[in-house]
Amino acid sequence: MKVTVVGAGAVGATCADNIARASLCTELVLLDIKEGIAEGKALDMMQTAALLGFETKITGSTNDYAKTAGSDVVVITSGLPRKPGMTREELIGTNANIVKSVTENILKHSPNAIIIVISNPMDTMTYLTLTTSGVDKHKIIGMGGILDSARFKCYLSQALSCSPNDLNATVIGGHGDTTMIPLIRYATWNSAPVTNFLSAEQQKQIVADTMVGGATLTKLIGTSAWYAPGAAGAALVKSILRDEKKLFSCCVSLDGEYGQKDICLGVPVVIGKNGWEKIVDYKLNDEEQGIFNKSADAVRNMNDVLKTL
Ligand code: LAC
Repeated sequence: MKVTVVGAGAVGATCADNIARASLCTELVLLDIKEGIAEGKALDMMQTAALLGFETKITGSTNDYAKTAGSDVVVITSGLPRKPGMTREELIGTNANIVKSVTENILKHSPNAIIIVISNPMDTMTYLTLTTSGVDKHKIIGMGGILDSARFKCYLSQALSCSPNDLNATVIGGHGDTTMIPLIRYATWNSAPVTNFLSAEQQKQIVADTMVGGATLTKLIGTSAWYAPGAAGAALVKSILRDEKKLFSCCVSLDGEYGQKDICLGVPVVIGKNGWEKIVDYKLNDEEQGIFNKSADAVRNMNDVLKTL
């Protein structure tokens, strides 16, 4: 199995590190446009193999896509990260051109690859990748909901003083501070609804904190997150390469599911060796469907900006 991570910045390098530590593939290529960065970070990671005991062989490349040939999975992290006070949406102008050219280069050498898009604004970058590549929709997966769901579980576990691993909680909709939808009505603590244990005010606070989970830490660090986004990307790679059929919220092409079409948006999907294999219908109530439709409108407006670039 071969995996390529495009972009050796903090998110790309952390994703690669997680993939290697779990020995998910035999070959891992880290590629970046900046001279030497990918080669240097790949070497640093390879020097941890004897300490961590992994078998994956990591190589770095400065923009030589021939080295990525025959990849089973490609993770795209290229583009600018957001700075404090910025929305993910403000990155569209710069990142759209980068993501489009990365996708073209990748597919020249790995026409059958499953592509995971992490670059922001992620919902629109996933739509761009899908519409410009023309590949089977099941092979294009946007990484957002899985990360937002992990953040949701983090805040829930703090409020409940419980293990995040005993929680089931999902965020659907767009991967934006105002477009994501933490589904608290569905969240459970080992099968018991979390709403049994939290006041209405606590629930509201957890939902609000989740929605700005990325922005909060961006303000503290001065740049966007990488540990959780990198781990989320690697969890998707794992479910694909090991055909785990894990149910994750991911940004995928909708064709009538959840009442939407001609858009990529976060919904619960089964992730396995064929990419996203099935959309699971949570049967939203009218209020949730209304919020989902609003989220879709906002993402569609952002997708329309692509036509002006
Ligand atoms: C975040 C970026 C990866 O939410 O979108 O941290």
